[in-house]
Amino acid sequence: MVAVPALLAALAAPLLVSAAPTQCHTWKNVKIGGGGGFVPGIIFNNAQKNLAYVRTDIGGAYRLNSDDSWTPLLDSVGNSNWNHWGVDSLATDPVDPTRLYLAVGMYTIDWDPNNGAIMRSTDQGNTWSETALPFKIGGNMPGRGVGERLAIDPHSNNIIYFGASSGNGLWKSTDYGVTWAKVSSFTNVGTFKANASDPNVYEQDTIGITWVTFDENSGGSKTVATPRIFAGVADTGNSVYISTNAGSTWTAIAGQPTGYIPHKGVFSPLENVLYISYSNGAGPYDGTLGYVYKYNITSGAWTNITPPSPSGDIYYGFGGLAVDRQKAGTIMVAALNSWWPDSILWRSTNGGATWTSIWEWVSYPTRNKYYSISYANAPWIYDATNTNFEELGWMIESLVIDPFDSNHWLYGTGATIFGGRDLLKWDTSRNVSISVMANGIEETAIQDLLSPPSGPGILLSGMYDAGGFLHKNLDTVQTATDQFHVLFSGTTSIDYAGNSPLQMFRVGSNAQQLANSGDGGVTWNLIYAANQGTAGTIALSANGDIVLWSPSSGSIIRSQYTNAFTTISSLPAGAAIASDKRNETVFYGGSTNSFYLSTDGALTFKATATLGSATAVVKIVPNPTLAGDVWVSTSDGLYRTTNYGSSFTKISGPTVGGDFDLGAPKTSGAYWSIAGFFTIDGLSGVYRTDDGGVNWVRINDALGFGSASANKVAVDYKVYGRVFVGTNGRGIFYGNPSCSSPPPTASGTTTTGATKTTTTPVTTTTTKVTTTPSTTTKVTTTPSTTTKSTTTASTTTKTTTTKVTTTPTTTPKTTSASTTSAPVVTGTQSHYGQCGGIGWTGPTQCVSGTTCQVGNPYYYQCL
Ligand SMILES: *[C@@H]1O[C@H](CO)[C@@H](O)[C@H](O)[C@H]1NC(C)=O
Ligand SMILES: *[C@@H]1O[C@H](CO)[C@@H](O)[C@H](O)[C@H]1NC(C)=O
Ligand SMILES: *[C@@H]1O[C@H](CO)[C@@H](O)[C@H](O)[C@H]1NC(C)=O
Ligand SMILES: *[C@@H]1O[C@H](CO)[C@@H](O)[C@H](O)[C@H]1NC(C)=O
Repeated sequence: MVAVPALLAALAAPLLVSAAPTQCHTWKNVKIGGGGGFVPGIIFNNAQKNLAYVRTDIGGAYRLNSDDSWTPLLDSVGNSNWNHWGVDSLATDPVDPTRLYLAVGMYTIDWDPNNGAIMRSTDQGNTWSETALPFKIGGNMPGRGVGERLAIDPHSNNIIYFGASSGNGLWKSTDYGVTWAKVSSFTNVGTFKANASDPNVYEQDTIGITWVTFDENSGGSKTVATPRIFAGVADTGNSVYISTNAGSTWTAIAGQPTGYIPHKGVFSPLENVLYISYSNGAGPYDGTLGYVYKYNITSGAWTNITPPSPSGDIYYGFGGLAVDRQKAGTIMVAALNSWWPDSILWRSTNGGATWTSIWEWVSYPTRNKYYSISYANAPWIYDATNTNFEELGWMIESLVIDPFDSNHWLYGTGATIFGGRDLLKWDTSRNVSISVMANGIEETAIQDLLSPPSGPGILLSGMYDAGGFLHKNLDTVQTATDQFHVLFSGTTSIDYAGNSPLQMFRVGSNAQQLANSGDGGVTWNLIYAANQGTAGTIALSANGDIVLWSPSSGSIIRSQYTNAFTTISSLPAGAAIASDKRNETVFYGGSTNSFYLSTDGALTFKATATLGSATAVVKIVPNPTLAGDVWVSTSDGLYRTTNYGSSFTKISGPTVGGDFDLGAPKTSGAYWSIAGFFTIDGLSGVYRTDDGGVNWVRINDALGFGSASANKVAVDYKVYGRVFVGTNGRGIFYGNPSCSSPPPTASGTTTTGATKTTTTPVTTTTTKVTTTPSTTTKVTTTPSTTTKSTTTASTTTKTTTTKVTTTPTTTPKTTSASTTSAPVVTGTQSHYGQCGGIGWTGPTQCVSGTTCQVGNPYYYQCL
């Protein structure tokens, strides 16, 4: 992606003579329930009761409500600042609880061209200002569960530290986060990388400073800077540092353990003790060893308090660590990744001298489980078909006890947030009630959406991790039967047969990748004969007999009557594909600026027309009821043919096209309503036309939807005006063309969730390490410009990725058993091809114009 420099974008906006009119919509999440992605951080405020926040790696941040639900705080993030959905750290002010800070940015490598930023709010996240940093931040990088890297001085809350990754060191602000400078006296920027020998650059980033923790008991005055501060560094040598002069100088603490990475450093104010969890991996997926230590600040003694494993040996690192601020010596810790037989949580009431675990072996295979667990807030999460299902979750980097309520606790997993309100029972009857506590968090990474003409579903969704759902309702949690059978770990494409709409096929990632349904998506059958492609997109012929598959790597393939696939060489690999919805023998394809037609059931394709100056065809959507009428979005806008692609008309308005769809017309017999991500008059957003592209209205209101090129769109087949947007990390939204409050105005007065963003220059007073940020000019953006286009022709493929939550490993030891020190493979992978992941031995370099991005730990892809 080539970002438009902020200054240019800001100057360009006022010069626009006109912009497409807006139409107010009511947007809300299609409820899946309970998260659906990794929750790396949960942070309570220590001064205000019931104030807590969650940060996610690709879906922004949330604030806790009194009814245990969560309110999203970054829904205004749009195409121009999409990387702000990667929240690397979060700090809530213990002096002035209205103040909230986020360190945002998605990747520290070139998958994210933008630098990171510190966002600050003085109203608990309702509105924001921000300061651009002169380096990148990796909210979705290895090590994203450590923390918190951001910390506010509990006495002088104008002072904030941020521990950066990638060798950027420790940073400090003394003016409530407006300006930042590097702390030049903090010299260990970390050496540890997730996997320095992995050819994928994603694994090679330096994890850096992992946390900053104040000793709030130190110092005589509560209004001058706290003198004693600790910092953790991802380093296998000395990794825990102390300053006793408010950050002027730092030294490694004597006698500390070495060898592992300190993931969490939590201060216990009633004990004057610093508790630290360690893992030998960066997390959140890895780690095979670790320990837990405490540092007695008074005596300077280090004590190994590692809890004993229920299985005897330790085969995991330690992640989440909680201190009960009301009960001296009551602490909890979590195994970061114990995949089998389940995750492990421990609790101690004597500062780690002795521990009890949440389950114990009776004798294999019987365990005592000292908990009950409810999935009522996300019934789909429980996988009754998997006998090795980890009930308690996995990837537990966040674990907290409410500072005002010793019974209330929360922990984040790879899929959701669990917690409860009777934690003290652990110490009495030793049996606690755990529930999914992620109501309101929608973190799925959507890969495809389909509004079917008929059948039981309003919507079908395909996504990584959770697989996908048949949505029979939009506002209630999805059940296990709503979820597609977990036939493969992610669904990337779904299509229906135009003449027989209950017939559907879908494809995905993992071993078996193709399934069909004859009942509109209620039940699915795995097609074993077709285990050839890898994710990508499919097109199903009008009668449902022929499947054309454009996999994420390799050639286009075709199968008829579920027979074996054969290669179709007349269509370029990676092409956009579609089937005519009425004519069984007609298929369409698009690549760069060429449009292709097949009239023999996808056996052969011929280029029929040129699509302007397009460099990429994004989506081909045929008229659902009229053969030969096809709409095509490209990097060069939107095109239409009414003669099977012999000739095209360029639709006025869109200059860049993204995902889009055709749906119910405004009036019977009129044009299909068309909506999708387009850039019109220089502004990226969700637009709709009801008259075939003569008039457009922008309908995304104050919502930004993150990266435009990553999003998926379905327009309701039956209900006029209802538009579904699938995001990469904030789940699915639906919008209806009605609303109670007016759309936001240009000046930024607004409806809920809108933000005001001020970018302030970084000052680098104590160091010249910085490269000057491109945004050294003052730029003010308002809600209506948060979707300002940064999309260029080269951005028609996704620039963001997802994290993974499910791991097939069921062995007691960890994952990477199959390490046969593969030789480094040279060569270049093609667009959509696999370029990495656990066990991958093929090429890791991507063809020019694409970059290698993490789909999940087992699958990286050139996008
Ligand atoms: C690091 O990457 C190399 C190369 O892909 C691989 O062989 C090795 O197993 C990885 N190490 C770990 C600890 O995952
Ligand atoms: C820390 O060390 C001091 C001095 O030896 C001792 O009095 C205190 O009890 C220790 N604190 C804890 C929590 O063990
Ligand atoms: C804890 O309570 C649950 C729910 O009542 C029960 O199923 C479980 O067996 C109890 N655990 C133990 C070890 O008694
Ligand atoms: C389907 O398309 C083919 C190829 O263009 C054409 O020959 C045939 O007439 C079409 N069939 C229908 C029913 O329109």
